[in-house]
Amino acid sequence: MTRAITVGLGPRSYKVLVGEGLIARAGELMGPLLKRGRTAVVSDETVWSLHGAKLTEALARAGVTVSPIVVAPGEQTKSFEGLADVTDRLLALELDRGDLVTAFGGGVVGDLAGFAAAVYKRGIDFVQIPTTLLAQVDSSVGGKTAFDSSRGKNLIGAFHQPRLVLADLDVLATLPEREMRAGYAEVVKYGLLGDFRFFEWLEANGAGVLAREPEALSEAVARCIRMKAEIVTEDETEQGRRALLNLGHTFGHALEAETGYGGALLHGEAVAAGQALAFRFSAAQGLCTALDARRAAASLAAAGLPTGLSEVPGHPFDAARLVRHMTQDKKAQAGALTFILARSLGDAFIAKNVDVRAVREFLQAEGAT
Ligand code: NAD
Ligand code: GLY
Repeated sequence: MTRAITVGLGPRSYKVLVGEGLIARAGELMGPLLKRGRTAVVSDETVWSLHGAKLTEALARAGVTVSPIVVAPGEQTKSFEGLADVTDRLLALELDRGDLVTAFGGGVVGDLAGFAAAVYKRGIDFVQIPTTLLAQVDSSVGGKTAFDSSRGKNLIGAFHQPRLVLADLDVLATLPEREMRAGYAEVVKYGLLGDFRFFEWLEANGAGVLAREPEALSEAVARCIRMKAEIVTEDETEQGRRALLNLGHTFGHALEAETGYGGALLHGEAVAAGQALAFRFSAAQGLCTALDARRAAASLAAAGLPTGLSEVPGHPFDAARLVRHMTQDKKAQAGALTFILARSLGDAFIAKNVDVRAVREFLQAEGAT
């Protein structure tokens, strides 16, 4: 069964399709968006070697020629050099503004190809075909595109909405377990931030999602995308409510910055630890109960995700250094810390002017030096 979810943004509205066999139908689904029979497909080496032939054949059946732009896998590709490489190859292909870029990969490829599409000849359309769980439930939807600077992650970016998102669940069959778990952290995030029933559903069905049982997986991905579409429709450029999607990200980004954005700590793993910390910090501030904080952490731990500083490579961390990363985050304004905190499971809110000292003391109580 294919589910269609609309991200309603007026003339820039688009559909996210969730289901099986969507890559095999890519020609038929993408055809109406193509003015000429060609697309440049940005992918990474791993995804391209596993799934590139299938996408190429599906598009060829509809008379669409694929020009692959294959990049190295990993966060380091989401860089200024990576952007220069992709845009140069787009220029060499002589793509014009009526053509289409296809981002075929995880969040790294989606963010980089999306940003390249945003700036190539002042903007060209693109389609997202996300191939990780994280990209399907989060990064491919909502139009945030970016690359990293040596001064921090996602610091240079643009809002550029895709024209279509194809979340083909079949492609997740080849995703390594660890990447699946990392994506699951973002799935739990939706329950924790705004949907207690979904959180409870995950407590009962999370193992099925992680085991890629088709019904559980499809239900989970669709529920996340529905919530994200609703939030993005209301607040496309993160003037307010969209920031709730950053639950766990302030602590998480600080941990990623300390561990060096490599394979030691995946983004989703950092977000898992960050969410558990955000709930415990909320409990420490008297905002939610300690029981809620334990239940949030237990749900993440059941998926094999880290829920505390001592489970993150690099422990023990320096609390002052972690706080410094937080104050440098692009979401920090005039030195004051903004956090997504929680009143209960499924009820997160944006907390401005959070006291830096309280955060540092909390981190020390959590095992930082
Ligand atoms: P990723 O793109 O690096 O993919 C993870 C790994 O899985 C890579 O090695 C990749 O080659 C491999 N892979 C991808 N699909 C596969 C498949 N089907 N089978 C086998 N291997 C596969 O990482 P990610 O977790 O997808 O994305 C993380 C990135 O997303 C970060 O840069 C983060 O900042 C960004 N992000 C962006 C948003 C947004 O709103 N734009 C939201 C969340 C995260
Ligand atoms: N991943 C957060 C957002 O899309 O806003």
